[in-house]
Amino acid sequence: MSKEKVQIFDTTLRDGEQVPGCKLDTKEKLVIAERLDILGVDVIEAGFPISSPGDFRSVTEIAQIVKNATVCGLTRAVKKDIEVAAEALKQAKRPRIHTGIGTSDSHIQFKFNSTREKVLERAVEAVKYAKSFVEDVEFYAEDAGRTDNEYLARVCEAVIAAGATVLNIPDTTGYCLPEEYGAKMKYLKENVKGIEKAILSCHCHNDLGLATANSIAGVINGARQIECTINGIGERAGNTSLEEVVMILRQHPYLELDTDINSKLLYSTSQMVSQKMGMPVQPNKAIVGSNAFAHSSGIHQDGVIKKRETYEIIDPHDVGVDHSSIVLTARSGRAALAYRAKKVGYELTKVQLDKVYEEFLKFADRKKEIEDEDIHQIVDASNVNIESIA
Ligand code: KIV
Ligand code: ZN
Repeated sequence: MSKEKVQIFDTTLRDGEQVPGCKLDTKEKLVIAERLDILGVDVIEAGFPISSPGDFRSVTEIAQIVKNATVCGLTRAVKKDIEVAAEALKQAKRPRIHTGIGTSDSHIQFKFNSTREKVLERAVEAVKYAKSFVEDVEFYAEDAGRTDNEYLARVCEAVIAAGATVLNIPDTTGYCLPEEYGAKMKYLKENVKGIEKAILSCHCHNDLGLATANSIAGVINGARQIECTINGIGERAGNTSLEEVVMILRQHPYLELDTDINSKLLYSTSQMVSQKMGMPVQPNKAIVGSNAFAHSSGIHQDGVIKKRETYEIIDPHDVGVDHSSIVLTARSGRAALAYRAKKVGYELTKVQLDKVYEEFLKFADRKKEIEDEDIHQIVDASNVNIESIA
């Protein structure tokens, strides 16, 4: 089955780094950029060069070291921003300028005190100007999620004619429902003249917890790039999480869409970003959270021990986690206790297991989680004559 490629545009170092407390210095950004390149992302949004001398330096240095991915710099639809971004990207093997402007009536009226016509003109001018520096120009229609589709289509048509290679349709406020966001992509695919010359891109925020679902709806309806971050970090409730969209496409082959991401590096990349940004990963985070492959209820544990697939839809090795874990709590059953006891050296007969399990429940009621060292104490306290197999 031949799959169509969805490009992964990573914005951990730009939208992700906008999170309060997640600021990185250039050295840290270089380490993450190198890792993203190895991970297999197609585009690294390295920063917003005009925003500070530090960001300018980071984009410049990332542009010099990245070997495979396109390196991208963000700008507003402002000449000076575009000039500074072009300068920072000068040494990139594959440079991209990402320019744009708000297109919703709310942005046009309250941010710019302008009109739809004037905003459209500024969009076109910005793309033309960016195009005088680089071949690859991505245009973002900020707040596209709340932009009238007909007007959005006119803007898209005009910027494609001006040379835009990628059209970013951000749900900046995370407001859209998946059906709505998917329908927006379909509308643009069907109503924008010249759309075959550009790639439609999803850029979804997570204010209602729908960023991943919206991005998937976007690609099902014709988009071929997803903008996302490691661990889903980003403004407010965050961006689409890279690891989630990559594994959704991989676990659903009938969609006939895939990315070039080396999924075995997902867990270690998640840990690296979390550690460098000082931003812990919530334990129940899909794919990379510490509980993503941990089983604690007796019924689930019994199933997983018999056959992993009974309660796991992803092989943990596929995302770089070396094993599923059987967590011992007061909700665990005999199968889990026997399994963990064997791992620390005790092969229990059925009779022995019954006795040890009784002792285990007393322990487990006092302690949230039973560790390997507790198992030795439990076995001792249960007074059964067990030969250690270790
Ligand atoms: O969320 C957004 O609209 C953005 C743009 C600047 C691309 O981050
Ligand atoms: Zn954003």
